[in-house]
Amino acid sequence: MHQLIKKVLVTEEQIIARSKELAKQITNDYAGKEAPLFVALLKGSVPFLAELVKHVEMDIEFDFMDVSSYEGTESIGDIKILKDLDRSIKGLDIILVEDIVDTGRTLTTVKQTLLNKGANSVKIVTLLDKPDRRVVEIKAEYTGFEIENEFVVGFGLDYNQKFRNLPYIGVLKDECYR
Ligand code: XMP
Ligand code: MG
Repeated sequence: MHQLIKKVLVTEEQIIARSKELAKQITNDYAGKEAPLFVALLKGSVPFLAELVKHVEMDIEFDFMDVSSYEGTESIGDIKILKDLDRSIKGLDIILVEDIVDTGRTLTTVKQTLLNKGANSVKIVTLLDKPDRRVVEIKAEYTGFEIENEFVVGFGLDYNQKFRNLPYIGVLKDECYR
């Protein structure tokens, strides 16, 4: 374990097993339909996207958006599009891939943006959910793990851009925040 990690909340094995389950659900839900476009939010959702799509049994494509949301551990309510999609999504079914749903502001805004661009539908898949922190009512169709209200890093999640490459979800030691 990394020397700055206090505890592991979700292990790599649990993440892989749960990603397989979610991929199976998604595969079943879209059976007989046009394959959805996976839209992942940079940068936190990249490891989860990579794990998830390996187990999806459809000929899917994926694309990326980057929106500003967090500095350190505090939310900035306002969201800006830093990188937009490469292609038109008119008429497409979208699966929006996120690392964590916290206040719900980011996903609510991004989902509405995708619908405004003409998406036929937008469903959300998130690795983590912190339901206690919700400010805007939004529920992911596919959730990996619900966690307590605690700041976490790893598997894409960062503290000041570090720790994204940890293969598990963990909590940093208090000394990191001093
Ligand atoms: P909202 O509040 O809009 O924010 O749902 C979602 C975004 O907030 C970030 N976030 C975290 N990042 N550890 C992180 O590294 C956390 O515990 C955490 N909680 C929220 C994250 O970028 C997510 O996309
Ligand atoms: Mg994020």
